[in-house]
Parts: sequence; structure tokens; C-alpha cells
Amino acid sequence: MRRNTRYRRRRRARLRPAHVVLLLAAVILCVFGSSRLAGGREPPPAVKVDGEPGGEPAEPSSQEPLPANVVTASGIACTRTTLADDALYTGDLILVNNMVFYHFPEDQELECIFDKKTSSYYVRDREVFLAPVAMEALNEMLDAFMNQGGSKSINVVAGFRTEEFQQHLFDQSAERNGLSHAEKYVAKPGGSEHHTGLVVDLSVLRSDGSSADYDGTGEYAWINSNCHDYGYIVRYETGKESLTGIWDEPWHFRYVGIPHATEIARLDMCLEEYMDYLRQFPFEGKHLTIECVSGTYEVWYSSGTTAYLPDSGEYEVSGNNVDGVIVTCKIK
Ligand code: DAL
Ligand code: ZN
Repeated sequence: MRRNTRYRRRRRARLRPAHVVLLLAAVILCVFGSSRLAGGREPPPAVKVDGEPGGEPAEPSSQEPLPANVVTASGIACTRTTLADDALYTGDLILVNNMVFYHFPEDQELECIFDKKTSSYYVRDREVFLAPVAMEALNEMLDAFMNQGGSKSINVVAGFRTEEFQQHLFDQSAERNGLSHAEKYVAKPGGSEHHTGLVVDLSVLRSDGSSADYDGTGEYAWINSNCHDYGYIVRYETGKESLTGIWDEPWHFRYVGIPHATEIARLDMCLEEYMDYLRQFPFEGKHLTIECVSGTYEVWYSSGTTAYLPDSGEYEVSGNNVDGVIVTCKIK
């Protein structure tokens, strides 16, 4: 009995410091806990609010797939639609560069600029062609240039190009100026936007018969500053070389349509940046709204060739030439 009693006492005596430690820990927790609550601050949430920078990753979405018929937030009734296989590679917004080549179609509708142009400008010869939509926009832009006081001196020196002609131009430039220069100013065959028929190169033809490079300055600054109102962008600008692969070309205008040209100019993006930007607006998420001189547009991106299209109204679908399509719908 004694031994047992002593043993129990000894155990009691050895446990005492641990109790003290536990007690201290409880006091510390109590003090810190109450001071946090006294400060009125809640503990951080376990899952971040979607889109907040620096938070924990959002929980995987458990969203149900959308039904076949959906009305957008602005009231556009849309139906899920499977597009043709070539939808990815056609349309006014396709990206074409040395990394993303043009998919040449069997037939390409082109118009002769000499036959279709207004009297506001010149064209090099009868062998310069454009896609109809770019042709109409070019006439409007260069008529407007004249109407606001510009001289009749613009000479359109390039439009659509075949792959073979692009190869010829590249080889010629490399021979005359060296390979490094050619790579800065001439796209690889297949990688030139000129293949699309949506591009013009401008030059200057003065009344005394002399010609000069078009640099977008002086009276021509009006064109480079206002071309978005006619659907064109200045495609290659200083500071974007690492993205476009091409050096400054103030004479090269690419048609993308008025809404997107306006948004590209507003954001000061090149087409490579803009294609990434549009991926932020999937049909399932928030849509992009663009206001421009031709109205207000709702825009969304769909990956692949299945997209929600408006059941009625004015809209356009364009591939991005990479992985999806962009739907541009007029809402006002
Ligand atoms: N000069 C442009 C980059 C082209 O060759 O398409
Ligand atoms: Zn060009």
C-alpha cells in the first residue's frame, strides 16, 4: 500500500509542470483570440472570392453544362450551334503571323481594287486585290480622309498575296537587304496577313509624280489615328515586335471590323494580345461590351467549333485561327 501511495504521489509531482504549460498555453490562446475578436476582424475565408489577386485558388467549378437555348444577360436569345470545321480558320478576326499560318481556302472571294475604288486615291495597277469587306471599308476610310482635307496622294501598293509571291518577296528582300532585315519586315510564306485579302499597304504618290514611303505622319496621321472607325488597325507598331515578330510598319493596315478595331485601339494592343484578351469573355462568363461609331456590341469567345449564336439580329462569327471562335452581336 505504501509503495503504491508513494508511487501515486510521485506521479502527481512529475505531472505538475505539464499542467502549468497547458495552463499557460490556454491563457495565451485566450488572450490572442480575444484580442483578434476585439479588433473586429474575421479570420480569412478558406476559399478566395473568385478573381481576387493573391488569394487561394478557387474551388473547381461544379457548374452544370448550359442548356441548348440560353438568353444572355443583355437579353439575346442564343442556341448552341455546331459550326463547320473551317470556322476556326475563317473570318475578319483571324490571327496570322509567323507562328500561326493562314489556312488557304479552296476559293477566296477577292475584288480588284482598280475596278472598285473611289476617286479619292490611287492603286498601283490592276493586279491588287482585296476581300469585299475590306474593299468597302477602304473606300470609306480614304473618302473620309479626302473629305476632312487630305490630298489625293495615297497609292495602294499591296493587297492580297499568294504564298508563292510572299516567298518571292522574302527571297528578294533577303538578297537585297540581308536575312535579318527580311525577317523583320517580310513575313514567312503562309505567315503573311496579306494572304487573307484583309490587308493593304499604302504608299504616297505626289502630284509631281514622285513617290515616297507612307509613314503615317503629317496629313497622314489622320488615317493612322482614325482607321479604327473604318474597321482597320495599324498592325505592326514599335514596342510590339516581340509579340508580332515584325518591326514598325505604319503603312500596313489590317481590317478586323469596326467594333474590334475600336477596342484594339482603345486598349493599345496588337492582335496577338487582343486574341488572348478575348479568351477572358467565354459565353458562360461575363461578355465584352464594345461601343463604337457603328453601335454597341456584345462579344463572347467559344473554344472549339461549337458556339452559342444569336437566334436573330445582326451578328458575326470569326475564328481566331488558333482554338476558337468569337461572336460579335450588335445590341444597339
Ligand atoms: N510586311 C508584312 C509583315 C508581310 O510581309 O506580311
Ligand atoms: Zn503589308
